[in-house]
Amino acid sequence: PLVSMRQLLDHAADNGYGIPAYNVNNLEQIQAVMAAASEVDAPVILQASAGARKYAGESFIKHLIQAALEAYPKVPLVMHQDHGQSPDVCKGAIDLGFTSVMMDGSLEADGKSIASYEYNVDVTKTVVDMAHRLGITVEGELGCLGSLETMRGDKEDGHGTEATMTRDQLLTDPEQAADFVKKTQLDALAIAIGTSHGAYKFSRKPTGDILAIERIKEIHRRIPNTHLVMHGSSSVPQDLLAEIRKYGGDMKETYGVPVEEIQEAIKHGVRKINIDTDIRLAMTAAIRKFFAENPSKFDPREYLKPAREAAKAICKQRYLQFGCEGQG
Ligand code: G3H
Ligand code: 13P
Ligand code: NA
Ligand code: ZN
Repeated sequence: PLVSMRQLLDHAADNGYGIPAYNVNNLEQIQAVMAAASEVDAPVILQASAGARKYAGESFIKHLIQAALEAYPKVPLVMHQDHGQSPDVCKGAIDLGFTSVMMDGSLEADGKSIASYEYNVDVTKTVVDMAHRLGITVEGELGCLGSLETMRGDKEDGHGTEATMTRDQLLTDPEQAADFVKKTQLDALAIAIGTSHGAYKFSRKPTGDILAIERIKEIHRRIPNTHLVMHGSSSVPQDLLAEIRKYGGDMKETYGVPVEEIQEAIKHGVRKINIDTDIRLAMTAAIRKFFAENPSKFDPREYLKPAREAAKAICKQRYLQFGCEGQG
């Protein structure tokens, strides 16, 4: 059934696990997540970015998720708007039937310049006031996703800034987080701890200086009752990169967020873990391999099937690693 995000996150907090929130854009990705969740009895958060709504089209994204509910009636499912850039985008998502929205007020509505704290409070509170009346959950974001190696904000996929930033601007401040939660009354808070979107997060396996897991602990100590959200949380598996390279792909050396760091974060209040890139890598590796081995094939079903299987495998692995098994 379609459930509220708040309900799922409360349950995750009470039982000490974290829920991967998977970005979906098409049929095969939605099928992959649902099949994985149903095999391990996990709750599901499907999230659509503005780009996903544009790629699939509003009706398709809505009805594909509707189809997931119909095909898997027992799986608790949240339909979440990822990175809503304005109250209008969030309102559009709610009108489409989403049960949860992210108001990302860390950047101005252009998605490029860093917003003032007052702006962020204002737009987030506006969305909370509108959404809570309808039983919709709200995620906000404080701090700016970006790299502590380059001191640059994340601009990977159009919801980040290119500007050079200070460590203080990049990381979420625990005191400000407490004030933000108090003023906005949001349900879940996305924090910035040195992760960024996309495949190119770290130039080496991250250590505490560039992936600030300690900061999560400080924030959780200050606001223990607020569900925390980690964005940019793909682990960028080296075996998938190797597979992509082996079959003709061109991907530079890069490292993601190690699963064991996410597991540590789950012990300190992180309840929602956003993953998109790992699914992209898994599907791409499978499709490249298929074409390399089957140069004469051309039926999309033949290459989308292994891609869907690969996506399912990584989703299932994360459900197990984050403690979701049997929680659905
Ligand atoms: O928020 C980042 C997700 O990876 C979504 O990416 O905006 O390219 O759909 P997208
Ligand atoms: P990744 O690019 O690390 O998968 O992060 C996805 C994300 O944060 C979506 O909001
Ligand atoms: Na942001
Ligand atoms: Zn994100």
